Amino acid sequence: MKKLRIAVDGPASSGKSTVAKLVAKDLDLIYLDTGAMYRVATLVALQNKTGDVQKIISIISQNPISFKNSQNGQQVFLGEEEVTDVIRTNEVTNAVSKISAFPEIREFLVAEQQRIASNGRIIMDGRDIGTVVLPDAELKIFLIASVDERAERRYKENLAKGIPTNLEQLKVEISERDRKDSTREISPLKQAADAILCDSTGKTIKDVVTFIEEKVKELS
Ligand code: C5P
Repeated sequence: MKKLRIAVDGPASSGKSTVAKLVAKDLDLIYLDTGAMYRVATLVALQNKTGDVQKIISIISQNPISFKNSQNGQQVFLGEEEVTDVIRTNEVTNAVSKISAFPEIREFLVAEQQRIASNGRIIMDGRDIGTVVLPDAELKIFLIASVDERAERRYKENLAKGIPTNLEQLKVEISERDRKDSTREISPLKQAADAILCDSTGKTIKDVVTFIEEKVKELS
């Protein structure tokens, strides 16, 4: 099959993973949630009460991060332990920008992401996919949405899951995560020069999926 690597980058809660999963299904691509990998590294740091990057890397080397597709979506594992839900807690979310700024952690996870992408048919979402992980991806999308809309989407998701959330607090946390991710020294969140900008504010999930799939058609 023809090589197709799609990089989807953008700020927190811009809908990257939702649309990437749907495009993966339609086009028969592997879907890789790179944010989940940084979240697992953060969980390891919190569980072991350590900021020692070598220790974090060594624990992940011994208990590799893996993904499994199930009825309820994609499950995430650290070794044998399922961590799908625990990596989405506020505690992890609010610490992840700090852990993901360590160059050694990034180097380690980027190598793993590139290894997974080497099969040639993948859609990956994150912050540095188009700039660092897959600089020669066939298609690069930079997905944005207003802070208000992103906070409202996350608020509704949390409500549906029964997680009590304060909307205003969510807006502050999303803006803060964007600020940290965009201003860090190593691999900051940045639109690649050859990425296509897609503003999903006011658009449906289907609109964005169709937009990406149209761009794929234009490649051939
Ligand atoms: O995509 P998600 O919001 O789950 O990502 C969690 C965090 O992981 C981001 O806020 C960012 O700090 C980090 N991340 C990253 N590079 C990626 C993906 C995520 O630094 N490629």
